[in-house]
Amino acid sequence: MEIWHIRGGRRLAGSCTVQGSKNASLPILAASILCPLRCELFHVPQLRDVDAALRILRHLGCLAEQRDGRVYIDSTQLSCCSIPHALMEEMRSSVIFMGALLARCGEARLSLPGGCQLGKRPIDLHLAALRKLGAQIEEDGGEIACHAYGLRGAEIVFPLPSVGATENAMLAACAAKGETVIRGAAREPEIVALQGFLRAAGAQVDGAGSGTITVTGFRPRRSAACRIMPDRIVGATLACAAAATGGDVLLRDTDPKHFSTVLYFLNQAGCDIISSTHSVRIRSGGKLRGIGALETAPYPGFPTDAQPVLMAALLKAEGRTAITENIFENRFRQVPELRRLGAQIDLDGRTALIRGVDRLRGTALSATDLRGGAAMILAGLAADGETVICDEGHVTRGYERFDACLRSLGADVCLEY
Ligand code: EPZ
Repeated sequence: MEIWHIRGGRRLAGSCTVQGSKNASLPILAASILCPLRCELFHVPQLRDVDAALRILRHLGCLAEQRDGRVYIDSTQLSCCSIPHALMEEMRSSVIFMGALLARCGEARLSLPGGCQLGKRPIDLHLAALRKLGAQIEEDGGEIACHAYGLRGAEIVFPLPSVGATENAMLAACAAKGETVIRGAAREPEIVALQGFLRAAGAQVDGAGSGTITVTGFRPRRSAACRIMPDRIVGATLACAAAATGGDVLLRDTDPKHFSTVLYFLNQAGCDIISSTHSVRIRSGGKLRGIGALETAPYPGFPTDAQPVLMAALLKAEGRTAITENIFENRFRQVPELRRLGAQIDLDGRTALIRGVDRLRGTALSATDLRGGAAMILAGLAADGETVICDEGHVTRGYERFDACLRSLGADVCLEY
């Protein structure tokens, strides 16, 4: 159990560097087994989810180690194509290893972690895409067994732009004979980052970032290197932390374009936003104002992962904000905890109506999930007195040294392990 101790009421000020992206690192770590490859990744964040992915790689017979922000993987000795439940369960998104294993070994056996953190986490779109490429897939309870006597290129059409299913399709398509076209693909920057790594490994992939991705071949290289893009959700979180505390914070080594919708709404709430190519300054002189209504949507819409942290920033705003969560069915789990601080939030189906209050009062909370836990930390920063958050390790799954980062900006935060 990790315990966050936060003494609120202090304005954040100063500058900090944004970590590497968790959601770009994880699919690239899976892609490292596509062919016998020695690869070096830079700017990889040190996170529990990255540790979990490295444990999976070692279980599969790879050399995989992280020293500071560098990860070194040697997948030439991969010797296994199944991932046990104990390793799958550690990280919900370990399903992204399925396409890579199928491409490398022609088979993959894995168990699926339950859903329920954010609602059901179905993988029907992942399986449909792999079947389209020629995979035979048996599902038996929580176990999945896939095999393919030669994958073949196909046209895959997604009815909704699933990030993970797009990634699995891209990875498996690298081993398919002939061209694969993925329509209705997710357009997140992390998909573009995965395309960059696949190209470095010798794949011919085009179109990432648009809704249509084409994989036309793969001439595996023996080595590849890449620098992981900045984490746009951590950038959005720190921007919301500055806004929540009436602060003035410069975020370095980030790409403001990747979370421009979050910055837009913070500006609507009264923050000054000063952007450059690799940095953004968020200055909030005083009380924020409610921003009316916003809805989460697939990229380039407002990111669901930033919904809880923007909610936290608006708890003391003048006026109301209605946030509609369209991506996950159970992503307001932070609301009951935020109410314990004195927040006024009413839930109506997929919409949360926030009425700003003058004060929040620190108290004891329990982190419910990764971004919900981050939202509670931000609300604690804006509350009077001390907030103590019991956390089963949710926040450290996605935020690297978040306590130290916030302290460097003047916050009174201590993380007790
Ligand atoms: C990725 O999850 C991210 N995780 C999530 O970030 C992010 O919230 C999500 O994309 C949406 O942007 C990683 O990249 C590791 P999806 P993923 O498949 O791939 C439904 C965080 O906080 N769906 O795009 O699991 C699904 O139920 C995490 O860093 C199906 O119906 O998300 C959801 O409603 C949380 N069938 C919607 O699509 C499928 O086969 C979007 O899910 C797959 C998904």
